[in-house]
Amino acid sequence: MGEDMGHSQGDNHGGLSAERLEAIRRSWVDAHITPLWETPVHRVAKGAPRGHHWRWSDLRPMIDDAIAVTSTDNAERRVLALTDPDGRGVRSTVTTINANFQVLAPGESARPHRHTANALRFIVEGAGGVTTVDGKECLMEPGDLIITPGGSGHEHAHRGQGTLVWLDVLDAPLHQYLGTQVFEPGPSNNLPPTIADSAFTGAGLAPVLEGPQAAYSPLFRFPKAAWEAALQAAPAHGDGARSIRIINPLTGAPAMPLMDCRLMRIGKGQPTAAMGSNANAACFIVSGHGRSRVGDEVFEWAAHDVFTMPGHNVVSHECLSDDATLFFASDREVLRRLDLLVEERVNAKDMKA
Ligand SMILES: [Fe+2]
Repeated sequence: MGEDMGHSQGDNHGGLSAERLEAIRRSWVDAHITPLWETPVHRVAKGAPRGHHWRWSDLRPMIDDAIAVTSTDNAERRVLALTDPDGRGVRSTVTTINANFQVLAPGESARPHRHTANALRFIVEGAGGVTTVDGKECLMEPGDLIITPGGSGHEHAHRGQGTLVWLDVLDAPLHQYLGTQVFEPGPSNNLPPTIADSAFTGAGLAPVLEGPQAAYSPLFRFPKAAWEAALQAAPAHGDGARSIRIINPLTGAPAMPLMDCRLMRIGKGQPTAAMGSNANAACFIVSGHGRSRVGDEVFEWAAHDVFTMPGHNVVSHECLSDDATLFFASDREVLRRLDLLVEERVNAKDMKA
């Protein structure tokens, strides 16, 4: 273990009687005071937090079970939350980020609400779903990405056939830690005006708007066809990977101010450069089969699996199918704004075997 600030074996308590010592300790407890030299709060954990891997092959049957167990009449949201087995107190998938799978049966809807947490939806299966964000309807087709930024009113409805499933990613644990979480159930009567998606049809062209604008993207839906085209055309990095970010077209900043979202395509036989970062990320496998090294562990993944990349791990990815597409949501932007972000490419020779 690292540094231990607990009291030492040789501490003779200055010759105090046991009764006096007990009285002193009681006074600390009563006054909500913690003597750090008697409390191992300054232990320095060895090694980085461990990532965790959830396989779609395990999860998919649980989605049918969730439909059997409850309905949206009973639940605000029918959500299966991926919960870090190493989490310490606050439920999260990886530190500041939650990843869940949400389910609607045909004809069901998830009622309107709004909250301070930023959220996104990556549609996994089903057709005919609609997410309404600040009053603007967004179709939910497999592969589409839809954001519901913090403060936006949103609801979901399944108007098609078959089970509708999507990945939710939220920064709710961050708000829980900061005490900034606010949840308002029901429809909102003060939704801000929205801008038609057609106002952004031309790449590099944006409307000039009057007055202050929301901190988040006026585009809420990023259709699969659009990001596929952008990803395919993105220049390859030295390791062969192509990556794009989901941005606010008015500013070039991340589409939601505190969550960085990226898509990456990798080809067979060329592992990505090993990267170290202190940001925390959840990775959703959009398509393909491969494996990722996260610190000392290797996760072999397939489509729709989720694994986590806790900060302070060195990470690299390798495709074992013709190609693979990975989606990352991270708290990188939170750390960057706080001037705390540390990222570096790691030479292969410096990595552990
Ligand atoms: Fe929500």
